[in-house]
Amino acid sequence: MRIIHLSDIHLFCQKAVVPKKVLNKRLIGLSNWYLKRRKIVDLGLLDLLGKKIRKLRPDIICITGDLVHLAFQEEFVLARDWLKGLCRISRVKIVPGNHDLYIKEAEQDMTKYLSPFFSLAPAENPHKNRGHKSYFPALDILDECAFIGLSSAEPCGILKASGTVGKRQLEELSRLLKALKEKNIFRVILIHHPILPGVVSRRKELKDYDQLLRVLGRHGVELVLFGHVHKRFSSGPCGPLSETLCLSAPSATSKEKNVQKRAGFNLINISKCKKEWEIFVEDHVLSECGVYFKVCKNFNFRTSG
Ligand SMILES: [Fe+2]
Repeated sequence: MRIIHLSDIHLFCQKAVVPKKVLNKRLIGLSNWYLKRRKIVDLGLLDLLGKKIRKLRPDIICITGDLVHLAFQEEFVLARDWLKGLCRISRVKIVPGNHDLYIKEAEQDMTKYLSPFFSLAPAENPHKNRGHKSYFPALDILDECAFIGLSSAEPCGILKASGTVGKRQLEELSRLLKALKEKNIFRVILIHHPILPGVVSRRKELKDYDQLLRVLGRHGVELVLFGHVHKRFSSGPCGPLSETLCLSAPSATSKEKNVQKRAGFNLINISKCKKEWEIFVEDHVLSECGVYFKVCKNFNFRTSG
């Protein structure tokens, strides 16, 4: 199984119409964009990325949130069109991030434009009035690999970027992990926020990470993919996750000079080796001249699940 893991695209539309009644948090987001972020985000990298992914021929492309920047409808249209283009290369599965639900009023647009990509075979939302989280956990099984999308996206206060999984998703996740383990299926979780404490500051953290870690500690999970940190991060066995690889991808559109924060993606190969699973990760980074992607690091992780 070949997986491409991308994160934090932050599509931004300069022509977006700003509705007056929802200026609040977006006003700060807009000033942040013009003062800081636009200097490090290069949406032109998406073409380069698409060409590279096409060559690598993955079985699935997993995107761990923050497709858009301020959750304007125009940004969601850009995101949908970009995702449709990726679907011509391979299967695409996403989970939303805090920027995709930047304010409460964005939920309807976010669900309309992004929900077709929450699962490989999108279903009608059976609980429309319960919001986008009723699509999650979103399970897809390909060969011997299960991809479980969780939504940690929620609107939060000014200067905050936290998230929550919530009791219902956790209960459902617990059932899924147990059932999949009994079938000896490799389990991948996609979530926007890091699941380990201390990876991001308190204002950006997953508020119920301890409950999530308890569920994962009880049933195990082989691979957790996340974003939100905007840098390369990997953690082998730690705490209750003795058989889990936790992996972030940097922002796919970052032109930061610092190699840890510069654009890239993970190419992950999963194979079975006797009673163990072998995860081989290639960390691809944008070259210093910004015109191609190259491997900056690779490593192996073995887990018996
Ligand atoms: Fe984020």
